[in-house]
Amino acid sequence: MVYHLLMGYTSIILLFGVSSAILIPLLWPDPDPPVLPDMWWGRGKMPSHPSKFPKDNTAIRPFTINVKNNTLQDLNHRLDNARLPEPLDNVQFQYGFHSKYLKKVIDYWRNEYDWRREERKLNQYPQFLTQIEGIDVHYLHIKPTIKNSKIHVIPLMLIHGWPGSVVEFYKIIPLLTTPTENRDFVFEVICPSIPGYGFSEAPHQPGFSVADAGRVFVKLMARLNFHKFYLQGGDWGSAISMVISSVYPENVLGVHLNFVAVQGGFASKMKHLIGILFPSLVADTPAQQRHLFSPFMEKVYYLLRETGYAHIQGTKPDTVGTGVSDSPAGLAAYILEKFSTWTNKEYVNLADGGLTKKFTLDELLTNVMVYWVTNSITSSMRLYKETMSERIRNFKFDRLPVTVPTGIAQFPNEIIMPPRNIAKHQYRNIIQYTDMPRGGHFPAFEEPKLLADDIGKFVEKVRTLEVSKNEK
Ligand SMILES: *[C@@H]1O[C@H](CO)[C@@H](O)[C@H](O)[C@H]1NC(C)=O
Repeated sequence: MVYHLLMGYTSIILLFGVSSAILIPLLWPDPDPPVLPDMWWGRGKMPSHPSKFPKDNTAIRPFTINVKNNTLQDLNHRLDNARLPEPLDNVQFQYGFHSKYLKKVIDYWRNEYDWRREERKLNQYPQFLTQIEGIDVHYLHIKPTIKNSKIHVIPLMLIHGWPGSVVEFYKIIPLLTTPTENRDFVFEVICPSIPGYGFSEAPHQPGFSVADAGRVFVKLMARLNFHKFYLQGGDWGSAISMVISSVYPENVLGVHLNFVAVQGGFASKMKHLIGILFPSLVADTPAQQRHLFSPFMEKVYYLLRETGYAHIQGTKPDTVGTGVSDSPAGLAAYILEKFSTWTNKEYVNLADGGLTKKFTLDELLTNVMVYWVTNSITSSMRLYKETMSERIRNFKFDRLPVTVPTGIAQFPNEIIMPPRNIAKHQYRNIIQYTDMPRGGHFPAFEEPKLLADDIGKFVEKVRTLEVSKNEK
């Protein structure tokens, strides 16, 4: 009985799915890419009309991180006086960051961790500030050192997400900017800090979303004289790359993503539904089937457990921001819990959240420090609220096609990733989709070599396709 009912539903879903896959593109064509007008995010009163926006200072100013001694003294004071909750006995990270391990992190931070040494490491790559739409944008700009003039230098922008920063890219940068024997190209890497994150100034006016970050980053590249470039991103970096690729395709040679948001189009929703019942009909490889569908309810509960932060940040970021910008212990717990679970969901069952299995405490704390010394956790969280706004929903980004060559790297421990067969509804020109052997949400930080190789392979493919197109 139940079985027949199920089969009945299944056929309806299948019929509905198949017919809608054919009908929807006819009845419901792709939306046009929006025009993203210039905005202004400076401090103070909003000019009455866009024509009255103050002119940007377009100078490119070299920047070195040099945190005030006072800031470090104040941090030490707060770490010395940290007040932690009494933890439960016999649990690990299931209730969030365990305060027994947090105590160890704080001890290390206070007594072993050396910010000045980390600051020197951060300053090893050239950094700059330049004003765009009224706020200073911070970025790393690393040129390759090449002696062979036959090697092509290709601009590549790497975009971080939340709760990461440009710190995630320090290990992958040399892998991208050093020539390899088998390739005739090497990358010139630009890593911007998203406005409101780390050393980029926070927008002072409400509304700064991923769409605005996309426009600001295209302006940044134009200022650096890059009019055609590659993009790479995960997390918000993936969303910003998607915006740039769909709204400014003429600037994008190719986009490589290690995270793809699940899309809102009707056909892809139907495929999800079908995939619940018959994963193999929707996802091409066992890895992709496992990733999205099986077991489906487990995935749903997992997502519910792991996405509460996004609801808070998407609604009242400033309230929770008050707590975590006042307490370094709170900030570390809030940020590093994500580096635990998003690297491997099984790590919630470990007393130390598995944090040092793939990362060192130094590199984890340096990412936390970038938020602490700039007091930017609250402004970083606002990106959720601003991106979930009606203004952004009306742009229908989840249904805007991306037609530039696309490479997708699916890391097995990523939170959620659509299989190629669903991703292709939005990304119409996927030329590479790799089921990666290991790694999670922060692959540049966790598996830099794997990610760098996949990016290199992708760009090589794009270049080969270009050559064969030109020969035709
Ligand atoms: C911090 O203090 C040290 C030692 O007094 C001094 O050499 C250094 O210049 C100071 N740094 C800053 C950023 O003020």
